[in-house]
Amino acid sequence: MCAQVFRSHSLTKVLLLSFSCIFVYLYLYYEALEKRNNSAVYRFLRGDQTIIWKTKIDPKENGTLQFNESSNKTLDNNKSVSTIPALPVTKFKKLSEPWTNSIKESFVNRTNPLLTLFTTWKAGKDKYTVHNITTLNWLSLRPLIMPVLFTNETSLAEECSRKGWSVLPVRAVAAQGAPVLKHMYLDVIKRFSSEFYAFANSDILFTDKLVETLFAVLKDKSTVKGHTLIVGKRTNVNNITMSESSSWKDLESVSKKRGTLFYSFAEDYFVTSASYPWKDIPEIVIGRRAYDNWLVLNARRMKHSVLDASGTILAIHQTTKAGNYEGSKHPDTSYNDKLLAKLYKKIPYSAGYADCAELITKKDKTKIVIARRLKLAHYCKL
Ligand SMILES: *[C@@H]1O[C@H](CO)[C@@H](O)[C@H](O)[C@H]1NC(C)=O
Ligand SMILES: *[C@@H]1O[C@H](CO)[C@@H](O)[C@H](O)[C@H]1NC(C)=O
Ligand SMILES: *[C@@H]1O[C@H](CO)[C@@H](O)[C@H](O)[C@H]1NC(C)=O
Ligand SMILES: *[C@@H]1O[C@H](CO)[C@@H](O)[C@H](O)[C@H]1NC(C)=O
Ligand SMILES: *[C@@H]1O[C@H](CO)[C@@H](O)[C@H](O)[C@H]1NC(C)=O
Ligand SMILES: *[C@@H]1O[C@H](CO)[C@@H](O)[C@H](O)[C@H]1NC(C)=O
Ligand SMILES: *[C@@H]1O[C@H](CO)[C@@H](O)[C@H](O)[C@H]1NC(C)=O
Ligand SMILES: *[C@@H]1O[C@H](CO)[C@@H](O)[C@H](O)[C@H]1NC(C)=O
Repeated sequence: MCAQVFRSHSLTKVLLLSFSCIFVYLYLYYEALEKRNNSAVYRFLRGDQTIIWKTKIDPKENGTLQFNESSNKTLDNNKSVSTIPALPVTKFKKLSEPWTNSIKESFVNRTNPLLTLFTTWKAGKDKYTVHNITTLNWLSLRPLIMPVLFTNETSLAEECSRKGWSVLPVRAVAAQGAPVLKHMYLDVIKRFSSEFYAFANSDILFTDKLVETLFAVLKDKSTVKGHTLIVGKRTNVNNITMSESSSWKDLESVSKKRGTLFYSFAEDYFVTSASYPWKDIPEIVIGRRAYDNWLVLNARRMKHSVLDASGTILAIHQTTKAGNYEGSKHPDTSYNDKLLAKLYKKIPYSAGYADCAELITKKDKTKIVIARRLKLAHYCKL
């Protein structure tokens, strides 16, 4: 009996000790992130991304970006080389998450990022949290995916580059202030070197599935040939919070719990190969209807490789009270339709739905593979 009392006593001690250890650990962890000081925990977290990425990333123009333990250099648009901006104070558990082994293997010998992912938005109170979450989510995919913001707003440019984004000016606008899509592509392709380039709406969140899918596309050179366009359906999640989006795993679970897959007519991201003939694309603008479907139907007409990646890429749309049909509420909402109607006789917009892409990505046991779609719906007729 005495032994039993003793045992339960020591068990309590052990438990107490473990809890205090965990508490101290958590305290240090958050302390490190919140105060952004140079503590060991912080450096370790930072090291996470540097340990994996040992090779140099050479931007086409000025400067070099080296993610290794002894240097944190990055490209700043105007300066040749500058140090990586301090990581943001954040409630995110981690900024750069551990990549899966298959992803690590795929980028052993890489010398440049996989994807330059760009967007644009206007500073405003109503969408501040949404954009805050996007900023951090896209940063979590560095250095394989490098985020770029197009803006001419100085304070927004400063805030985002402080957080680690690259910033470029908006060169051309139309339809009362909407950026012209092709010029943003041409600008990032000129300035940054990567395998793929993509515009995505500023309220879309991604996980490492995007990276995994792009590696699968790169590998299958016999199916995916020539100019390539990758699109997909999005998953709407209402009022997503900071903590729900704090890791790729959390995003996956919130999308399962509260998400709904949206229709295939809505396309929110467009990944294209570096070779994509953007110079031949009309001056369509983002944020107004019709450009998304036209891009896809045009790529199908031109016999490019068009992929529907809905099966493997999780693209979460942060739905707020503005709803799921924002494009139709902006001024000059028919700008793209009118422009395209002048250029083309027949525009079967439904042929530009994501589920009209001839190729699909899908999970095959543990790998992602590319396959041909067996049957196209009647509305996909060009
Ligand atoms: C890390 O960066 C430093 C300074 O730029 C460089 O001298 C060193 O060779 C790099 N180390 C590796 C392993 O790439
Ligand atoms: C890298 O960044 C950290 C934190 O901002 C800084 O303390 C350190 O001096 C930097 N290292 C180099 C080599 O610039
Ligand atoms: C690189 O940076 C230097 C100094 O900031 C600048 O003079 C030069 O024009 C830049 N080169 C290019 C190609 O942007
Ligand atoms: C936005 O993010 C910053 C850190 O990046 C944080 O300090 C701020 O509280 C966030 N704001 C909101 C409204 O979430
Ligand atoms: C990386 O490059 C080295 C040297 O060129 C080569 O031996 C190795 O097989 C490559 N690794 C991968 C995963 O391609
Ligand atoms: C780069 O420099 C030019 C001229 O000094 C300036 O107009 C532009 O806003 C700068 N761009 C960024 C992204 O800081
Ligand atoms: C944004 O700034 C750039 C250069 O700083 C300028 O060429 C461009 O016209 C501006 N765009 C808008 C929409 O004002
Ligand atoms: C999301 O927030 C809006 C107000 O911003 C509210 O009207 C709506 O009910 C919320 N939706 C959910 C599912 O919580």
